[in-house]
Amino acid sequence: MKVIGLRLALPAAVLALVLSAPSRADEMGGPGFSSQELRAKLDYCKTCHGLSGQGYRGYFPMPRLAGQQPKYLENQLRAFYERRRSNPVMANVAHALSPSMVAALAAHFKDLNTNPIGGAPKEPVALGKTIYELGLPEANIPACSACHGPEAKGQGEIPRLAGQLFPYTVKTLGNWSKERGQGPAKDDTSFIMAATTHNLTQAQVAAIAAYVGSLR
Ligand code: HEC
Ligand code: HEC
Repeated sequence: MKVIGLRLALPAAVLALVLSAPSRADEMGGPGFSSQELRAKLDYCKTCHGLSGQGYRGYFPMPRLAGQQPKYLENQLRAFYERRRSNPVMANVAHALSPSMVAALAAHFKDLNTNPIGGAPKEPVALGKTIYELGLPEANIPACSACHGPEAKGQGEIPRLAGQLFPYTVKTLGNWSKERGQGPAKDDTSFIMAATTHNLTQAQVAAIAAYVGSLR
């Protein structure tokens, strides 16, 4: 088995993952990279984003990638790389990736069906569900479900929100205009969310983040 050679270098948890799906991993690979290179990249992503892509609640929240829409994931990696989306960690990560590698990573994370890690407050979930499904017309806030879908699974360049970490969603909606649509080419897909993030109060953001974070 090819994986034997990797054994010594990998931590036990990663090893378990590699050994649990060797045949599938060996079929992957693609133009310009081997299946080992893809596996090494995935291991690297998962040191931060979690072994099942579930995310990690650290000092900086590492977002969930499991089940994420490939088109959205690819768009964001490009945005980090071009510094339209500001994040020093991910700018470096995205720098080292070829387009075909990005496509393979995106396909892998799309297929991970991981339970949400939880930990969001329970009280605001009902309000969050109402805003998510109906919006708040009087405050110029559209129904999130109109774009992100009734189950918050996203579509194409519109991200999945289901199961996303509460602190990540809170931070993201609160910092939108500082993090997204930066750089010289400002007009990107982040523009679609700008007005909505501006109109949401902190309490409404927390309610929506708690609701979507609880969805599978
Ligand atoms: C050293 C830690 C680290 C590593 C390694 C890492 N990431 Fe990230 N990643 C982050 C952090 C932190 C964020 C959140 C950035 C923010 O808050 O805007 C992030 C965000 C992302 C996002 C945006 C998610 C969203 O919902 O908008 C994508 C996509 C992503 N990472 C993909 C990857 C991929 C693919 C790899 C491996 C090639 C990887 N990351 C490796 C830390 C890491
Ligand atoms: C008109 C379509 C549309 C509507 C309505 C909409 N969104 Fe979005 N949303 C998007 C798109 C497109 C993106 C991706 C932006 C980008 O590429 O930076 C996004 C991104 C997001 C993100 C970032 C996810 C991540 O992983 O970083 C969050 C959170 C979010 N939307 C929450 C909401 C909430 C909450 C509502 C309702 C109050 C809402 N959206 C309504 C289209 C929409």
